[in-house]
Amino acid sequence: MKREQWNSQLGFLLAAVGSAIGLGNIWRFSYMAYDYGGGAFLIPYIVALLTAGIPLLILEFAVGHERIGSAPLAYAKINRRWEWLGWWAVTFVMFGIVLYYMVIISWCLNYFFLSFSLGWGDDPDSYFFKTFLEVSSGPSEIGDVKFPILAGLVVIWFINWAILYRGVQRGVELANKIFMPLLFALTAILVLWSLTLDGAMTGIKAYLTPDFSKISKPQVWIDAYSQIFFTLSLGFGIMIAYASYLPSKTNITKNALLTAFINSGFSIFAGFAVFSVLGFMAVSQGKDISEVVSQSIGLAFVAYPKAVSLMPGGNLFGAIFFLCLVVAGISSSISIIEAFTAAMVDKFAVRREIFITVICLIGFLGSIMFTTQAGLFWLDIVDHFLTHYGLIVVGIAECVLVGWFFKLNVVREHLNKISSIKLGLWWDILIKYFVPLVLVITLIWDLSKELKEPYGGYSWASLISIGVDWILLTLIAAFAIASRPWKTGHRETGGRSGG
Ligand code: ALA
Repeated sequence: MKREQWNSQLGFLLAAVGSAIGLGNIWRFSYMAYDYGGGAFLIPYIVALLTAGIPLLILEFAVGHERIGSAPLAYAKINRRWEWLGWWAVTFVMFGIVLYYMVIISWCLNYFFLSFSLGWGDDPDSYFFKTFLEVSSGPSEIGDVKFPILAGLVVIWFINWAILYRGVQRGVELANKIFMPLLFALTAILVLWSLTLDGAMTGIKAYLTPDFSKISKPQVWIDAYSQIFFTLSLGFGIMIAYASYLPSKTNITKNALLTAFINSGFSIFAGFAVFSVLGFMAVSQGKDISEVVSQSIGLAFVAYPKAVSLMPGGNLFGAIFFLCLVVAGISSSISIIEAFTAAMVDKFAVRREIFITVICLIGFLGSIMFTTQAGLFWLDIVDHFLTHYGLIVVGIAECVLVGWFFKLNVVREHLNKISSIKLGLWWDILIKYFVPLVLVITLIWDLSKELKEPYGGYSWASLISIGVDWILLTLIAAFAIASRPWKTGHRETGGRSGG
């Protein structure tokens, strides 16, 4: 079977940017920036981007491109015994992250429609938690499926299916060629509009005024590194699969730098819209900005709706904001499903169209759990474990595998032959020593915090049965799939630089 290819380099770049820019860019980044010292947060954020994000993104692009394979195939070609690592990445992302990610996009779709009539009423807080989610008393009290969320979920999975069914060029590439310009245009409208609001400058001041005392805390640095990891879709197996669809002659390092800078630039830019609106709300309610800023989920689904209700023409503003989230979310979710599909096509020669249909149905069924009244708790726990442990462990293992068990200089020479920006020995040092070290520190820090007090105040029973099990079951599945024989001859072929 001939490997799928991008139609153009621009198509690849937009797809990589589409995967990177997701739900987290629009409000998670802004919230973190505010909480961790405003403008001063940009220091750990940029340091994390330069010292770990970019080197690892280059590594993932390089592995996929040089080994010509999805994550499991690329790792199996490096060392047969490491195939499980690729499977684990694509499995916990496909059967974990994407299941709740779709549900959050469904919330955004619901809120897009609610915006037109300001359907959250006078008390968006109570509306979100008590009416829309109708949150139960805890993770073990499942309750009912919330119908509007389920209906949105059907639509979102259907859109994902419809895009992916058409293949890499006519599906993923075309969708991103439409989605990315649309997202940039809508975000620009939001930013410009929000800057005209009364109090916008109060918000921007809160967003950007540096408070250097905050960046001396280790937690800020740990969170900056994990934010960079999640936002660049590192450890998901996505960037490896996307780079495997590139032709031999491709400017890999330039594309990696562009992807990283466009993604972070977008986060910083979108932050202006988020904070101008919060500033507007603070001024119009006569409150201090710190009283109207709330944590990630609360910021998008509680604080923003409140502000939108106060704003002239707010319904349109709200609709554009939630549409941005839907578009950013879908361009990331398709990349996750694509990473898993590429792996299955590489190993078992499954027919893409049939497989996409089956996997989207299974995924949809799996997502339903998160539409129940306990969905918010489940989402919170699964997200915590998969992003704090799953992704970080994959990142460490990638550096160890490629840096220590494979000829890193071969990868670097391959990159330097085809890229305009040449890599020096510094890249080897970052991949072999620095990045794994930082990630190990992050991991130990998180684990020790975890052991001191259970995450989010949940019971250990819930954390183990929902979060830890999710990690273990996907790990077992990864080993099981890796032990199956290859149905295609791909594994026997080497990489582009021979070997
Ligand atoms: N990179 C994607 C995001 O930030 C997964 O949402």
